[in-house]
Amino acid sequence: MTQKNQTLGEFIIDNQSSFQYSSGELSKLINAIRLAAKVVNHQVNKAGLVDILGAAGDTNVQGEDQQKLDVFANDKFIQTLRNREIVCGIASEEEDSFITINSNDKKHQNKYVVLIDPLDGSSNVDVNVSVGTIFSIYRRITPVGTPVTLEDFLQPGNKQVAAGYVVYGTSTMLVYTTGDGVNGFTLNPALGTFYLSHPNMQFPETGKIYSVNEGNYVHFHQGVKDYIKYCQQEEGDRPYTSRYIGSLVSDFHRNMIKGGIYMYPKSSVTESGKLRLLYECNPMAFLAEQANGLARGGRNRIMDIQPTELHQRVPFFCGSRKMVEKLQEFLDKYH
Ligand code: AHG
Ligand code: MN
Ligand code: MN
Repeated sequence: MTQKNQTLGEFIIDNQSSFQYSSGELSKLINAIRLAAKVVNHQVNKAGLVDILGAAGDTNVQGEDQQKLDVFANDKFIQTLRNREIVCGIASEEEDSFITINSNDKKHQNKYVVLIDPLDGSSNVDVNVSVGTIFSIYRRITPVGTPVTLEDFLQPGNKQVAAGYVVYGTSTMLVYTTGDGVNGFTLNPALGTFYLSHPNMQFPETGKIYSVNEGNYVHFHQGVKDYIKYCQQEEGDRPYTSRYIGSLVSDFHRNMIKGGIYMYPKSSVTESGKLRLLYECNPMAFLAEQANGLARGGRNRIMDIQPTELHQRVPFFCGSRKMVEKLQEFLDKYH
């Protein structure tokens, strides 16, 4: 049963049985992410004090090196998942190759792999603007009892069993899906508890916001340029409003609530765009589709792309259904 103001802990227990592979493992995994998110949140909130407490590269009073926040977030998520022995492997934006998790008594028995962008929008930290964490969860393909392989991570997004993000904003929220809609939980920092604040989140059918780094306009392909001009035209409910934070999590979150489209196209200088398929685009695509939105990578559905590399980049268009369909019409004109 979904009830507003439920805690995330209660929600996980209540909804565990509705998950098709229910064995409690996925619930433990979401719980571990919840815990790591709280630790990272605490650190993100202190980021503005960095000049007072010491910059990255300095040594703190305990004699420990101060870390950059994306390294800190990476370590915390990996450490939390590793300590709880609930996944068999982790891939991260901050790690060149995947990490195999194994303990003596578990012998590669865990079923899930996690892919994360530990700190998304990290350049925003220095200027006190929202950042996030993105995660994507799959069941392994290789048999339990054996070490994970690259194949376990290179699965198309349509095989995800759960995905979500944390946005460290004016309030901190954890938003996730296990394939049964999208729910958002807001952290009460005084208690350290997440409460269900946004049950069953849905992209409005259409919206008035377009989000793209327009500084790259001259490098975009003609279809994208034409769509941007369409957004700016005075007709009907247009011109639309341009909003771009430069942190995918925050831009997505706003667009899901208000209605809008996010675009990171390929261009004449970045042939595959910028965003990473496995730990940025796929989890956001899963959330978008679960929230009645769309996510495409040019002409194809993001979640149907067969990945070939851990850090693969793809063009990404995501948001309110009607807006993505309209963009598609423009892209199709040039094919
Ligand atoms: P990260 O901080 O994890 O490297 O991700 C930054 C990404 C994404 O969050 C954002 O939408 C995009 O980069 C912004 O890129 P531009 O500065 O090129 O617009
Ligand atoms: Mn990112
Ligand atoms: Mn990152």
